[in-house]
Amino acid sequence: MKKMFLFILIGSALFAQNKTYTQRADSVLALMTLEEKVGQLVQYSGDWATGAAQGRPSETSDELLKKGKIGSFLNVVSSEKTMKLQKIAVEQSRLKIPLIFGLDVIHGYFSTFPVPIGEASSWNPTLIEKSARMQAIEASSAGIHWTFNPMVDIARDPRWGRIMEGSGEDPYLGSLMAAARVRGYQGKDLSANNTILACVKHYAAYGGAEGGRDYNTVDLSERNLREFYLLPYKAAVEAGAGSLMASFNEIGGVPSSASKFLMTDILRGEWKSDAFVVSDWNSIGELIPHGVAKDRMKAAELGIKATVDMDMETSAYFYHLAELVKEGKVDIKLVDDAVRRVLIAKFKLGLFDDPYKYCNVEREKKTIKSKEIVDATREVAQETLVLLKNEKNILPLSKSLKSIALIGPLVKSKDNPLGGWSALGDSNDVVSVYEGLTQKLGKNVKINYAEGCTILGKNKSGFATAVKAAKASEVVVVFVGEHRGMSGEANSRATLDLPGVQEDLVKELKKTGKPVVVVLMNGRPLTIPWLQENVNAIIEAWYPGISAGIVIADALFGDLNPNGKLTVTFPRYVGQVPIYYNYKNTGRPHDPTNHYTSYYMDLENSPLYPFGYGLSYTTFEYSAPTLSKTNIKKDESLTVTVEVKNTGKFEGKEVVQLYIRDLVGSVTRPVKELKDFAKISLKPGETKKVEFTITPEKFKFYDINLKHVVEPGDFKVFVGTNSVDVKEASFTVVE
Ligand code: GLC
Repeated sequence: MKKMFLFILIGSALFAQNKTYTQRADSVLALMTLEEKVGQLVQYSGDWATGAAQGRPSETSDELLKKGKIGSFLNVVSSEKTMKLQKIAVEQSRLKIPLIFGLDVIHGYFSTFPVPIGEASSWNPTLIEKSARMQAIEASSAGIHWTFNPMVDIARDPRWGRIMEGSGEDPYLGSLMAAARVRGYQGKDLSANNTILACVKHYAAYGGAEGGRDYNTVDLSERNLREFYLLPYKAAVEAGAGSLMASFNEIGGVPSSASKFLMTDILRGEWKSDAFVVSDWNSIGELIPHGVAKDRMKAAELGIKATVDMDMETSAYFYHLAELVKEGKVDIKLVDDAVRRVLIAKFKLGLFDDPYKYCNVEREKKTIKSKEIVDATREVAQETLVLLKNEKNILPLSKSLKSIALIGPLVKSKDNPLGGWSALGDSNDVVSVYEGLTQKLGKNVKINYAEGCTILGKNKSGFATAVKAAKASEVVVVFVGEHRGMSGEANSRATLDLPGVQEDLVKELKKTGKPVVVVLMNGRPLTIPWLQENVNAIIEAWYPGISAGIVIADALFGDLNPNGKLTVTFPRYVGQVPIYYNYKNTGRPHDPTNHYTSYYMDLENSPLYPFGYGLSYTTFEYSAPTLSKTNIKKDESLTVTVEVKNTGKFEGKEVVQLYIRDLVGSVTRPVKELKDFAKISLKPGETKKVEFTITPEKFKFYDINLKHVVEPGDFKVFVGTNSVDVKEASFTVVE
């Protein structure tokens, strides 16, 4: 009996080259029992469970694998461990269907890259694609087939700790980053053994949580959902992402893991995607506390009917899906469609042709932390640093300095530069700031180090030593920020201040009268108006990954000119949140001469740093933008040209940004919308002409009837170095 099945399966696989993935999947589907079909829709965590096991079955993984009752694992890492489980599935089950192994490879498998919000600050999709490519090469060498990334959730609220995992507040930039990561992970051939399946998450609008509190309610108009939040998911799907992850949150009363609107109408209907959807951890089970399912069986029914294909760690499908089909509550076609989508992904990965192609211990040893990958972590990190302030050009520091004070809890830290979600990232691989600077400065410069305080603690007893170190130095560089565990999942904050007594430490150091430079390592915008007012320079480093100390040392001493730009607005005060650049004008826009307008009466209303902001060691001068036409038809493109000159002494990279404003629409329109950008490099004195083409697609929006159209009318175009410092021109779109 077994031999016959094996013959059929091998036969169908061998002579399947000329068959489509769907035909190949259907040839396997036809052989499967209902229990085996359900098994393909079940995913459990392996090596370590990162959350409470939701009533898992009592049998061991091995026993369940032999019965074909598990189709996927997450959190099983290494060629050896994945091979062990794969062998059971492929050699000891009836139909020998290979497993798919997933892991959160968010910014590195072993070799840790900057956290995603840092990578996005590079405004360099090509570089981000390279980062994802390197991550995929390393992870796939260790048996990983599938990453739960890119996380593409638009986030306008920095209280939300997962803002660290995404690309910020803008849908245009977020879409480019999403597509770049999908291309990087999946490469040109998913069946190659160094490419992995991408998983676009968290579908959808997880970043819209009220109050920035993780897992909280999201309530958006459909227009807001389509105009802002859905765009990066769509871009990732259009880039060919092979899977998506359903989010924990509800939108307007419907949890995503039970949302036919999201999963069927939009994903499969409008976007025509055959990607499979995996739930988030127990998100199907959480339909019960959401209050839309009275028990796990109902949760399973809602999940499969919404076309959430695979159940991560709820056991809802494991225990109830077969029963629901037998009782006629769930149409077997829904199960078949889900299984087909999962099998297609396994065929695309080449797992039916060679289930062990990712499990090669020798290859793994050669690939993990290879020079190419480690060098790439530095190359990427070099474009993520954002220069926020540089009073009197105190930076870069002179290499002829005789002494420097390195102060703060992040000077010697080797784990925090990894950031959150760092998979197998190893703090021993991190070049700390202290190590990077001592390597660079050698014996020529006296380094006076003091921790000063801890990140979270209230203890100021270290201040005196820190002040002493400062007084003994020509310049003080303070490394402060957040603990890596303060952003990422479930890590929401109600304040955005520097934690602990770090700001007090900086105030004490300021009193010494020495020049003070602050380097921040954090996973979200922080409210640091006092720093902005009172220290000489500030660099936003985010969490730069294993090359942290190298790139920060290079930046401080001018071997690297910081060239990152913010992809999230920094508020002055948490009371301003949500604050973002593409806001609506309202009927009473802020007018300082009129009290009865929209503003806060007790504080400065402008952001501390606007979207797109970032300085350089050099300066750039922009010409006014010139337009190819001042009147264009609805189906015509517009060319916008601007000249940018490096008017300073350093070579530098500049992100030239183009925004538009639709002055009058059938619905209200944002005061600005990013529609293009170009990152250029200029030598001192060099001028470059930058040309943007705005296609009709970029003028489209969801009109009063939610139709995605171009409406005639007057527009403004803005070009500049961030979303505020711009030069403008006007044009009209005619019928
Ligand atoms: C977590 C996260 C999700 C992650 C998944 C697997 O709860 O929400 O981003 O991919 O579980 O670890």
